[in-house]
Amino acid sequence: MVSLQLVQQSNARIASLPKGLVALFIGATSGIGQSTLQHFAQHAPSPLIYSVARPATVASHQSFLASLHQSRPQGSYEVITADVSLVSEIDKVVDAITEKETKLDILFMSPGFMAFDGRKNTLEGLDPSMTTRYYSRLRAVQQLLPLLNNAAAPRIVSVLGGGIERPLYEDDLDLRDESHWSMWTSAFHPATMGTLALEILARENPQLSIIHWFPGPVSTPGLAKAREYGMVPPNQMALEEAGKRGAFLVTSERYAVGGSEAVQKSGGGIFLIDPLGESTDNEVLLADLRIRGVDQKVWKFTLDIFDECEVRAKRDKDEL
Ligand SMILES: NC(=O)c1ccc[n+]([C@@H]2O[C@H](COP(=O)([O-])OP(=O)(O)OC[C@H]3O[C@@H](n4cnc5c(N)ncnc54)[C@H](OP(=O)(O)O)[C@@H]3O)[C@@H](O)[C@H]2O)c1
Repeated sequence: MVSLQLVQQSNARIASLPKGLVALFIGATSGIGQSTLQHFAQHAPSPLIYSVARPATVASHQSFLASLHQSRPQGSYEVITADVSLVSEIDKVVDAITEKETKLDILFMSPGFMAFDGRKNTLEGLDPSMTTRYYSRLRAVQQLLPLLNNAAAPRIVSVLGGGIERPLYEDDLDLRDESHWSMWTSAFHPATMGTLALEILARENPQLSIIHWFPGPVSTPGLAKAREYGMVPPNQMALEEAGKRGAFLVTSERYAVGGSEAVQKSGGGIFLIDPLGESTDNEVLLADLRIRGVDQKVWKFTLDIFDECEVRAKRDKDEL
């Protein structure tokens, strides 16, 4: 366990990181992402922080960033309006950043929700609880690789379920068969597919440090909604602590490529990190999936989904 004291000591040293780190937060209009953004911004020297908000949340997010700007005027904060429950909206985010930046140091992704209301497909024909937690995140990584690879020590953190992956419906990755879909499978498929796909990208881009974090129960607005459905997990981490730990994950040398020996990577080359910052081991499941080529199958399936979303977005644009 990485103690909170150690986390705080390390975060205090964020001030000595290079000036002008460029960071993109997706899912930071609330919860773990927002608290992480806040703790990162409090310490980072003159960071350029981009944050994605859907139209309904832009105003409240702008006032959150404005108050951050008041306390840390040396930072630059920009909201990009996009609804990442649509894969195609990620491309708008990527365009907005690529127009202004030549590198991206940090990509922090925490959008998502538990689908208590069942599966309600988006215009792209995808389950938004899976899109926010998997497809859009991987689209962001894929499309931002050129900028990430231009950074000196690029790092990606995806907040979901690193180390708690479960078996997949391998012939129904998108859970289109109603008997396969449930609130839980729509959470575990993104977690398992996320690890496998991120591992492939890590192997192709060895200079990237990629962390898949399972934060455990954290007292966020998202988890508060679960209470309405009778779900009140014990031992919830305070949001403040999760934000400090998030800022630690994006900056600590512990999770650098070739970093500390205390933190092991998965057999596929990414950090699967538990709530308190230690590496976890889910190799029995993951090694079997890799040996059988399920990781490649997942990525091929995902690329096909991206193609379909691109074709659809182009058609919609042409029809306008
Ligand atoms: N909190 C926990 O206990 C816990 C435990 C394990 C894993 N996780 C995972 O960690 C991630 C962050 O959780 P959190 O508790 O911090 O969540 P949260 O407070 O509810 O914040 C979720 C973020 O996702 C965005 N989002 C939610 N539904 C969306 C939709 N339909 N379309 C587009 N964007 C949407 C939200 O945007 P708006 O502000 O616009 O709604 C917000 O930015 C989630 O993926 C969650 O599944 C959380």
